[in-house]
Amino acid sequence: MSNNDSTSNTSSADAQPKTPIVYFGSTPEEQQAGVRKLVDLFYDEMDQNPSFGRIRKLHPVHLDHSREKFYLFLSGWLGGPDLYSPQFGHPRLRMRHMPFPISSEDRDQWLLCMVSALRAMQLPEKVIEGLMLSFFRTADWMRNKPDPEGSAKGLNTVSIKGE
Ligand code: HEM
Repeated sequence: MSNNDSTSNTSSADAQPKTPIVYFGSTPEEQQAGVRKLVDLFYDEMDQNPSFGRIRKLHPVHLDHSREKFYLFLSGWLGGPDLYSPQFGHPRLRMRHMPFPISSEDRDQWLLCMVSALRAMQLPEKVIEGLMLSFFRTADWMRNKPDPEGSAKGLNTVSIKGE
């Protein structure tokens, strides 16, 4: 199937699927369960892996609320039903992240945590790469704290393969 085919799951502009949620399960119920699993893997990793201590400290002690909101958001972000906006309005992600100081190092920890969760889901490698590119763009846009002088951290220091 070519990328220009209107029935294709990828746009012609890039290789990212329009509805990556289809890779999370074969029925809508399985897909929602898959998104919940990704969120749980992501926050479990952040909670348990000391490498992600920097971003763990930005979050509340109890992560239940964070898990629920991220799940509601990701459902729509991955091309499934929009469950976030009916409850919370427009995501305004940059504005909602302003209370938390986010530098390049925090962005990179977040991305490494996410690539680890995506790998544990055993999604096809091409899907992981496409998702990581989108996550990188959003996470990079969330930065709101200058990096230390002389650091090259403003550049992408995490490859989308998380290596
Ligand atoms: C760049 C690194 C990032 C850091 C350090 C970070 C950190 C945080 C923190 C501390 C919260 C508040 C959690 C809570 O109140 O329970 C939050 C909320 C949230 N984050 Fe992030 N985040 C990052 C990137 C992202 C990205 C890339 C996305 C989306 C793809 C995202 C989506 C969300 C959503 C949907 C919420 C809930 C917003 C709300 O309604 O309050 N975050 N994030």
